[in-house]
Amino acid sequence: MRKSKRLLRPLHHMVQGPRNDTVCKGREDMANVTVDLKGKVALITGASRGIGKAVAIRMASHGASLVLASRGKEALDETVRYLKDKYGIDAIGVPTDVSKLADLQNLVQKAKAHFKKIDILINVAGVSSQHPFHLQPIEDFEMLANTNYLGYVRLIRLVIPDMVERKNGHIISVVSGSTLCDPIPRTFLAYSSLKMGLRAFLKGLFWEMREHNIKVTSLLPGVVASDLTDHLKDVAQEQRDRLMDPVAVADMVSFALSVPANACPLELAVINQLTTWTKPVIDYKQTQAK
Ligand SMILES: NC(=O)c1ccc[n+]([C@@H]2O[C@H](COP(=O)([O-])OP(=O)(O)OC[C@H]3O[C@@H](n4cnc5c(N)ncnc54)[C@H](OP(=O)(O)O)[C@@H]3O)[C@@H](O)[C@H]2O)c1
Repeated sequence: MRKSKRLLRPLHHMVQGPRNDTVCKGREDMANVTVDLKGKVALITGASRGIGKAVAIRMASHGASLVLASRGKEALDETVRYLKDKYGIDAIGVPTDVSKLADLQNLVQKAKAHFKKIDILINVAGVSSQHPFHLQPIEDFEMLANTNYLGYVRLIRLVIPDMVERKNGHIISVVSGSTLCDPIPRTFLAYSSLKMGLRAFLKGLFWEMREHNIKVTSLLPGVVASDLTDHLKDVAQEQRDRLMDPVAVADMVSFALSVPANACPLELAVINQLTTWTKPVIDYKQTQAK
């Protein structure tokens, strides 16, 4: 039996959207590089808040048409409306649970029915669950594997045949900076080992897809900030200041899309400054993945 929804936590990072705070105020949609994506279609999962929403805003600012996916319809619709109004782009939202194959098939079918093609796939949707291993809720392994690993791999499998046929495409996936740590950080075992598997898969995919002119890029972000009101209330300002804004990940996406056609950023890592590598930026208290 799953615990009540109240007890379930979204991703530990709980990024609520591009924040109106410190470092990045006012530049959520401004890239440091010029990228023109008019005429291109991008599909972004996890686009209703946090990193995915920041990436969606950035892609809209580059002029791309967008297919956005997440489970919650309300936040998704709101994001679609906002991007269409502000950037004058075409966008659709498709409520999707990436852990379910049928939902992924529906997502790709809706995207192709509306836009005919997908040029760029950006996998962001993910959940987290951090616990000492012996205390981790047993249901979380399946949830993490189905969402954070299969959710990426299956969607890529569904999207890539058309890219191969057109000999064009770019697959960008938000993995995790925790995969750079060896051994995996304490209490991150299930989450990070799956992300490591995902990172290995994406590296292999890069080699396999080069001959089809498809680029494959993995993003490895450190700890990204959110409003985190319930999680961060006891955290010192000095610790909050270390958290990265989701805009830092949108910057990685813009960079990945800005390089010349005959080059591909295979992996990009952006890690928090001023943070001891082996020490958590913030200690998270989670009950269960959501
Ligand atoms: N934040 C960090 O510190 C950090 C660091 C490294 C890597 N990452 C990775 O970045 C990604 C996004 O993290 P975030 O911090 O932006 O998380 P977040 O703020 O919790 O947002 C997660 C997004 O994914 C969606 N989502 C979650 N489960 C889903 C599912 N089963 N099907 C479809 N959509 C789903 C959520 O919408 P719904 O709940 O409505 O579905 C939401 O739009 C994750 O893959 C995470 O592992 C995050």
